[in-house]
Amino acid sequence: MGFLDLPNVISEGDLVMVRLGKSQFKPVTMQSGETLHTRYGSYPHNDMIGKPYGSQIPAMGDKGFVHVLAPTPELWTLSLPHRTQIVYTPDASYIVQRLEIRPGSKVIEAGTGSGSFTHALGRTVGTSGDVWTFEFHEVRWEAAKVELEQHGYKDIVHSFYRDVCSDGFQPASGVHAVFLDLPKPWLAIPSLPQYLELGGISRICCFSPCVEQVIETIKTLKECSWTQIETVEVSCREWIVRKEMRRTLEDVLKRQESFRERRSAIQQRKRKLEELEKQDDDDDSSVVGSPPNKDDIPYVDLYNPWGKGERIVKGDDRFQWDIFSAGERDIKSHTSFLTFAVLAPAPPKMKT
Ligand SMILES: C[S@@+](CC[C@H](N)C(=O)[O-])C[C@H]1O[C@@H](n2cnc3c(N)ncnc32)[C@H](O)[C@@H]1O
Repeated sequence: MGFLDLPNVISEGDLVMVRLGKSQFKPVTMQSGETLHTRYGSYPHNDMIGKPYGSQIPAMGDKGFVHVLAPTPELWTLSLPHRTQIVYTPDASYIVQRLEIRPGSKVIEAGTGSGSFTHALGRTVGTSGDVWTFEFHEVRWEAAKVELEQHGYKDIVHSFYRDVCSDGFQPASGVHAVFLDLPKPWLAIPSLPQYLELGGISRICCFSPCVEQVIETIKTLKECSWTQIETVEVSCREWIVRKEMRRTLEDVLKRQESFRERRSAIQQRKRKLEELEKQDDDDDSSVVGSPPNKDDIPYVDLYNPWGKGERIVKGDDRFQWDIFSAGERDIKSHTSFLTFAVLAPAPPKMKT
């Protein structure tokens, strides 16, 4: 099974995305007799083989569980072995749309890096399209090529070991979208026109973390007649929805009071422990009276409105629950600047 043909049921040899927690995935190839060991328990592959994708799998003799999901470029991006910085989904989705990449598109990509964006490109262009991807680091090139083939992209993604700045993008042809994630894209831009679709409109995106790279890229794009040049940065903020227990005012006040008591008890404890340490350091046996003992310094338990040791599971129907939603505090931003441009065919010469 590859990323492009997704059956409903897990089979031997399938690559399964095991969801261990929020945004935490482990790609695992199913082999009967093998077991996945995690800090959330152990999961024999045999318990997963034959189950529908999306199933919840209980841990062997334990309370934990995982979900087994079908592989997608988005999940691969979250779990792939990092050999380089990678393009993440908020940027990838924006780039695909701005470059107008669709089923059947012909696309150039350099460098391949860890192959994160290559997976997104391959799925979008599909079996009627082509992605020519180039990488000049041999080990990275080989690793990404093997992964892409294993993931079912063999006939879609054509992978080359090449320095595109000195040696160009052969054998790409008829291309109308170019993505350059290179330290010096301006060295690769001048050779591009020979690989682009004749008479067509071509689009480019250069992905650069530093503004100095952007300046140099824009200079070269202008010199090479690219137009509609625009640099953007993608910021992404997730909205989180959670259940919160409806509490009485009395509970809230008691809990606040208990927090205050606990904080002052912790400070007192710290001071006493420091005193104890100091006494140990300058112990000249001349101190009169019994020194404080560590065990005499008390802890303060937090006030628990449901009784000591009682834990409440979210949704417990003995209580009332409200749904809250809020934006993540941190906006996930600056991975890179994205510089877009368009190359239109030259207008026909007017007869005089
Ligand atoms: C930041 S990584 C690309 C990451 C990739 N976009 C991803 O999503 O996984 C940049 C890659 O470009 C490669 N590279 C740099 N200069 C190159 C060149 N002139 N020709 C080909 N590859 C090059 C580097 O070896 C590196 O692997």
